[in-house]
Amino acid sequence: MSKIHAVIKGIGGYVPNYRLTNDEISATVDTSDEWILKRIGIKERRILKPEEGSGVSYLAIKAIEDLKKKHDFDPLEIEAVIFGTSTPDYILPNAAALTAAKTGMTNAFCFDIEAACSGFIYALEIAENFIISGKYKKIIVIAGDTLSKLTDYTDRNTCPIFGDGCGCALLEATTEDVGIIDSIMQSDGSSPEYLHVYGGGSANPTTHETVDKGLHYIWQDGRVVFKQAISKMVDVCNEIIKRNHLSPDTIDWVIPHQANLRIIESVINWLNVPHEKVMINIEKYGNTSAATIPLCLWEWEPKLRKGDNVILSAFGAGFTWGATYLKWGYDPQ
Ligand code: COA
Repeated sequence: MSKIHAVIKGIGGYVPNYRLTNDEISATVDTSDEWILKRIGIKERRILKPEEGSGVSYLAIKAIEDLKKKHDFDPLEIEAVIFGTSTPDYILPNAAALTAAKTGMTNAFCFDIEAACSGFIYALEIAENFIISGKYKKIIVIAGDTLSKLTDYTDRNTCPIFGDGCGCALLEATTEDVGIIDSIMQSDGSSPEYLHVYGGGSANPTTHETVDKGLHYIWQDGRVVFKQAISKMVDVCNEIIKRNHLSPDTIDWVIPHQANLRIIESVINWLNVPHEKVMINIEKYGNTSAATIPLCLWEWEPKLRKGDNVILSAFGAGFTWGATYLKWGYDPQ
């Protein structure tokens, strides 16, 4: 019997309307357009404002609508919805269930996973294993965040970096030689002090004091995160390249997490992959956390060809990181 693979059969995406420019940020904190472009590589990021909508499920519903427009599928056939997000609408219920209810995926079981910026590749890993088990045939993976809701816009170390956005992928079972081939997922929770939001969970439930202390905002040690992001993504990419006998010549696309343009450039230099094979859109959207990789796939979808060798790699709070090797599943329509 032929081996079952899980293959991406469609990509959807959405970014909110409001464009937060470097000049607007520079009006409130001590920074500049020039500094942000040179040190981070971002020109603007999109922010979900209350006048447009609220909650990450708003973005996810828009992304699913976009997917449905391009890739016709029956929402009733979707068996599971897995949502990678660190910014669900509520503590409960989960954002996947809210999204499924509003998009007609009413036969699916739904849950969120929290793996920060690695949310998309972690969710793909779960969906793939559901599919190759033979029990499920159609799963929607969503990855989105509204990190603007956790950002302190008086902190110049974090506020230029993050933006809001959401992407989604339709995964199906196939016996063709395409789809997810291999993956490496890793975590290290021993040093949460370097990148965290300490307020609002069970350790520090929300009180006036947690709010006054700013514990509901993202805090990071940028230099540590910077170095870790490069070394961990390079390690897992090299390992997946080696064990699948790939080379810069046979890789068609690399999609690194979009955290900082200097991180991306360092990773691709270490991997020795030419620039034209690397998807980069950080200048337009900033770091949208779990959404960066599917938003790249969303933008580059017309250029992807069936059988293309694609490497995805992410790094995020936790720390969480990993790499996925897949063969693209369809030609542009
Ligand atoms: N504008 C101007 N100066 C800034 C600044 C800003 N927005 N942010 C930081 N600086 C300052 C620092 O205060 C520091 O000043 P000091 O030397 O007087 O203390 C100086 O720039 C250099 O700090 P450093 O941390 O070395 O800057 P950097 O070039 O590494 O850039 C980050 C800072 C945060 C952009 C960078 O470390 C980074 O991108 N880290 C990874 C963050 C990330 O990816 N997080 C999400 C993980 S998925």
